[in-house]
Amino acid sequence: PAGLVVLASGTGSLLRALIEAAADTAYPARIRAVGVDRDCAAADHAAAAGIPVVRIPVGDYPDRAAWDRSLAESVAGYGPDLVVCAGFMKLLGPTFLDRFGGRIINTHPALLPAFPGAHGVRDALAYGVRVTGSTVHLVDAGVDTGPILAQEAVPVRADDDEPTLHERIKIVERRLLVDVVAAVATRGIVSDGRKAVIPDERVLR
Ligand code: GAR
Repeated sequence: PAGLVVLASGTGSLLRALIEAAADTAYPARIRAVGVDRDCAAADHAAAAGIPVVRIPVGDYPDRAAWDRSLAESVAGYGPDLVVCAGFMKLLGPTFLDRFGGRIINTHPALLPAFPGAHGVRDALAYGVRVTGSTVHLVDAGVDTGPILAQEAVPVRADDDEPTLHERIKIVERRLLVDVVAAVATRGIVSDGRKAVIPDERVLR
């Protein structure tokens, strides 16, 4: 199976979905380690599942570049085939991207290129869109600008607030992320200009 390092900062429900998927021996990926930039529920879940946790807070380093190098070194120590950002709320730096570029997968709670950044759900609600959703994409140097691997729509309800809408999006995100990681682990990614395609993909579009 493919080796994963999962990066997280939050409650870790996406991480838990990956842990549960990888508990099935038929799943084509295993989580080798979880990296966090702060104390968070995601770190607790990983530890409880017996997965090594590396904690690398930005504030422990003199500057962002030193943090970036340290994160890249720590993650490289686990030799991952893929890095998965599952609610990781820091932008990855140039050293990390040099090392793992093309095999870093992120999930974002909006239909990119709409509503990138840290508040994808809030921004979509404020704009008044009737449909938003989940995007799983490759990470590049921009903010949520990398090639898209899969997307799925989630309708906005008239009475939605940020928590209710985010929760419905996360239900979709967990499934999409688990499916995309499995597909990429099995078949890889073919790049075509700014587009990325998982060969033979039938369900994922
Ligand atoms: C998810 O909705 C993920 O898309 C989002 O954080 C949430 C993490 O949920 N990520 C971003 O907004 C990145 N810009 P979780 O902590 O329950 O896994």
